[in-house]
Amino acid sequence: MKLTDNEIRDINKLLEAGKPLPEKYRFLLFDEKREVELVWNGKTNEICNVVLPFQVIEQVDEPRAEKNVKMQMDLFDTQTGRQIKGWNNKLIWGDNKLILSSLKNGPLREEIELQGGIKLIYIDPPFDVGADFSMDIEIGGETLTKKPNVLEELAYRDTWGKGTDSFITMIYERLALMRDLLAEDGSIYVHCDWRVSGYLRLVLDEIFGKDNFLNEIVWAYRGMAVSETHYTRRHDVIFYYQKREKITFNWQDISEGLTDATISKYRYADENGRKFRLHGRNIQGSPIQNNTDIDIKWLKAKPELCRVDYLDQKKGVKPRDWVVMDYLNVMSSERVDYPTQKPEKLIERIIKASSNKGDLVMDIFVGSGTTAAVAEKLGRKWIASDLGKFAIHTTRKRMIGVQRQLKKDDKDWRAFEILNLGKYERQYYIGVNPSLRERERQMQLEAKEKSFINLILHAYRAEATNQFKAFQGKKTGRLVAVGPVNLPVTRLFVEEIILECRQKHITRVDILGFEFEMGLFPNILDEANNKGIDLAMKYIPRDVFDKRAIEKNQVVFHDVSFIEIKPHIKKISIAIELTDFSVFYSQDAENADKSLKNNSSKVIVDKGQVIKISKDKNGIVNREVLTKKWTDWIDYWAVDFDFESKREIVRVKNVETGETEDVWTGDYVFENEWQSFRTKKDRSLELKSVFQECPPGRRKIAAKVVDIFGNDTMKVVEVTIGGRK
Ligand SMILES: C[S@@+](CC[C@H](N)C(=O)[O-])C[C@H]1O[C@@H](n2cnc3c(N)ncnc32)[C@H](O)[C@@H]1O
Repeated sequence: MKLTDNEIRDINKLLEAGKPLPEKYRFLLFDEKREVELVWNGKTNEICNVVLPFQVIEQVDEPRAEKNVKMQMDLFDTQTGRQIKGWNNKLIWGDNKLILSSLKNGPLREEIELQGGIKLIYIDPPFDVGADFSMDIEIGGETLTKKPNVLEELAYRDTWGKGTDSFITMIYERLALMRDLLAEDGSIYVHCDWRVSGYLRLVLDEIFGKDNFLNEIVWAYRGMAVSETHYTRRHDVIFYYQKREKITFNWQDISEGLTDATISKYRYADENGRKFRLHGRNIQGSPIQNNTDIDIKWLKAKPELCRVDYLDQKKGVKPRDWVVMDYLNVMSSERVDYPTQKPEKLIERIIKASSNKGDLVMDIFVGSGTTAAVAEKLGRKWIASDLGKFAIHTTRKRMIGVQRQLKKDDKDWRAFEILNLGKYERQYYIGVNPSLRERERQMQLEAKEKSFINLILHAYRAEATNQFKAFQGKKTGRLVAVGPVNLPVTRLFVEEIILECRQKHITRVDILGFEFEMGLFPNILDEANNKGIDLAMKYIPRDVFDKRAIEKNQVVFHDVSFIEIKPHIKKISIAIELTDFSVFYSQDAENADKSLKNNSSKVIVDKGQVIKISKDKNGIVNREVLTKKWTDWIDYWAVDFDFESKREIVRVKNVETGETEDVWTGDYVFENEWQSFRTKKDRSLELKSVFQECPPGRRKIAAKVVDIFGNDTMKVVEVTIGGRK
């Protein structure tokens, strides 16, 4: 470092006075100098390295059977095309920072590398400020806009809260993680538009190296809105970088066909009917030299001077760095009504060019699932993630549709799993260091749990109390029990509450939990009821971790939804009928009448009813309930005919031995064996499943319902088939 004595003195003085150093020292003081660099408030090189185990919550590997489903023996699967071994595609719900860091540093990395690593990443981050978390849902002929939940809002704030600075901070760290995950011979495409393209180019140069820049691809499209103050903005930009060299680039697979004008130039045909053009061979002294499209007579007279250019040998036009392609129109069958959905044709071009069959492709901002759908259709493996539950649900439906189509076309398809970092994410939120030794971790967990309970009580607006064993708070005449931090509320947990209620004559209780053991409802509620106890179970929303949401009184503890199913048993077959479903949401219900202007209307949700409130010119309010039937709330439901047949295993690193182990979490994976759902085209829903043949004996059957907001609930029933074994 070449600093003069004066400069050193100056720096010391400024530092002692707590004053900032002048700009010139940035280049004099630091070791690594970048000639051109993007700097923003909050820039840091610290990259997340948290490892959380992934939990498989659902597996989808058999598109819904159209007929009676027969019992399947181990290897019968070859008959149905159902995949039984090997890589399962992954649809992961959660914040992609934690997902990427866990993929990069955790045990799943080994599995990824076994597949040859991630060969292609395509991302389309939320560059259209705020467009991603509000969804329009059609109901009773009206449109209800589902607002973002607080977690989604938080993500939105993290991304756009401080304008471009926060977007760049968000994407910088994730791009660094993606670079580390990408195979050495892999490539990445980053989709954006004029809002952030300038910044992203510099960030990508920094992370991938500017020598690894390959293209700035322009996707131009048409649209309705036009500008008269400047040129109408009608293109997106897709940056294309390689990790190192030797990447896949199958230009032949995406080359464009010849234009009609070019084809018309192939005006000759040989004796076999092959069309050709005739050119000179560029021989010195030749009268036709390298002339193009010369007369056919030359071929007869002087064939050695001619070059024959056959049409069937043309590979098409090599792809250029621009493409003109329309956005999906309103009538397109591809549309799934996801606001930022991209056309499959666009993604197809990318996947075909930059990966081969069997390669692993990743999109961690998957939205409506376009990348996953195209990857599956093209025989690639995939990993996809999204923070929005609605996005995960939309992708799930879309992928089932793709699987069904592949099955119909007699083609292979791959199973996919839906995963999350749920329980462990909570542990992470409350700040327990997962790499501590067991005992220390336990101590830290206990200490943190205390402050966690206070946090939940505060968000629930309850008052803390320490007079009880099972209760930690009270609120308006009810005692409040907070469920465990990293486990679902179990039957045992509730039974202890009931016991204390009976001993101390407590009759009104709220139980708050992140998750409730499957099959807990409604039996336990009936049991409590019979003992004269009014038990209310409520979900703790994930957004309790958002201080700002608590301060704004935005955190809503929903009642659990309620499912009723009825098994139909015929000898050794069973079908499940969905007989009731209720939810208890509210959105915009408070003061809705008052805040509405005369001569206007608004759709709100009030305790599980979607209501259209209208005010006429005299201020007279009319409320029309749009959800006429309980089925209106259901978007999708699925059945697992043998719940508890697949244990949920997580791969975790044993901190003591350093070895990776498979550990059973105590839960089971829901195997999606039959499902009925609404699509944009077909709004009908079947309420009874097909009959499934099962071996005689007792078994548990699970039904999962996903409501129109994308939230899911499950119900488990125990049945005996073919008499007791
Ligand atoms: C522009 S959309 C992607 C649309 C997608 N290309 C398609 O064709 O449907 C961006 C997506 O990123 C998701 N997202 C935003 N922040 C995220 C985060 N931190 N982790 C995971 N997904 C996130 C949003 O939920 C949204 O679905």
